[in-house]
Amino acid sequence: MAEPSDFPRTATYQADPAEVGRVLLLYSGGLDTSVMLRWIQEQYGAEIVTLTVDLGQPGEDWDVVVGKARDLGAVESVVVDARKEFAEDYVLPALKANALYGGGYPLFTALGRPLIAKLAVEQARATGCDTIAHGCTGKGNDQVRLEATVATLAPDLKVIAPVREWQMGREEEIAYAREHGIPVKGGTEAPPYSIDDNLWGRSSEGRAIEDLSAPPPDDVFNLVTAPEDAPDAPEDLRITFEAGRPVALNGERLPLVDLLERTAEAGARHGVGIVDHIEDRVVGLKVRDLYEVPAAAILIEAHRDLEKLVSTVHQNEFKHILDRKWAYLCYSGLWYDPLREDLDAYIDSANRYVTGEITVRLYKGTARVVARQSPYAVYDQSLAGFGESGGEFSQHASPGFIELFTLQSRMAHRIRAARNGEADGG
Ligand code: ARG
Repeated sequence: MAEPSDFPRTATYQADPAEVGRVLLLYSGGLDTSVMLRWIQEQYGAEIVTLTVDLGQPGEDWDVVVGKARDLGAVESVVVDARKEFAEDYVLPALKANALYGGGYPLFTALGRPLIAKLAVEQARATGCDTIAHGCTGKGNDQVRLEATVATLAPDLKVIAPVREWQMGREEEIAYAREHGIPVKGGTEAPPYSIDDNLWGRSSEGRAIEDLSAPPPDDVFNLVTAPEDAPDAPEDLRITFEAGRPVALNGERLPLVDLLERTAEAGARHGVGIVDHIEDRVVGLKVRDLYEVPAAAILIEAHRDLEKLVSTVHQNEFKHILDRKWAYLCYSGLWYDPLREDLDAYIDSANRYVTGEITVRLYKGTARVVARQSPYAVYDQSLAGFGESGGEFSQHASPGFIELFTLQSRMAHRIRAARNGEADGG
């Protein structure tokens, strides 16, 4: 097994083993970070403080995680409930930006990492740690997001990433765990997939998922009902938005965290939000991810629809360009790039009138907008219909409009055709 001094350091923020005194470890309670907890003490002779961040990942028992950290020698063990901050300051801006990386991934992991790293910096400061340790591999995006944030907010703090450096195989890791009395959940079988989740979604990667030629294995999906098993009766969900923020479900006002959870439950019941995604990672690799994102699938669809209704064609033609840029910045770990704030300023401005109600019909894997209403709708039913119009719309003016509107297109077509004809004939 590699020693900490064996690997080359290519960034200034990578810790020199001799200088590591107290380490803030981002701890999930899983095998990797549990092995890290012992290994860092052993290899660096360092004290460990663990930080576990609650972003609404379902089915976790934080007392058990803290107990485990203490058993493995952590001098201090902290769990931070960051669900509200995550929802308000990360998920809500993403929703206003209709944020879908690569057109399909609602960025739940990417949104969580800068918050986790910010809390790690705060906790490191509060507990006198000089180094932050995380369990990311060297192939993923999460290392980029965490380290970008730490290096931005706290250039003086060092980082260690043992999983990236130690090159312990799965068997070695389990042997190490055995030797050091680390409980191995679920036996010695390698877990079939790499999972990450929070209140905005759940991802699975690796193993059988890597075979692009096969449909997703059934055992991947843990959150969302298979669409074919979903109820035969559709369910309508009426979502109220105020300035881009979802505030009520079927007329009941809810705090944002509750609203996201309730929307996810409804979507999951109806098989909504399964995404089979080919993804371009920041580090160059192309991978396949399987996502379960019921809340995002419903809310982004509803938000985008309402935004379209209250905005002009010019706003609609423009905003998706910024939305895409926003998603890319977030995906690639550049949460603190000033461009994000610039984009947020526009996106918030564009959302001032995104107020109204959208009804989404959930049915066997689909979430379809079936009704909308807004005091700011740029819509006049009396003008929109097939019948006679008056006032601001005169059908008699249309031919003149068409002739002027198409002038350049028609001219260019004619001129080129004539020139090409000359060239051919000549
Ligand atoms: N592909 C997604 C992303 O880059 C999900 C990553 C999940 N992370 C994990 N450690 N399993 O954001």
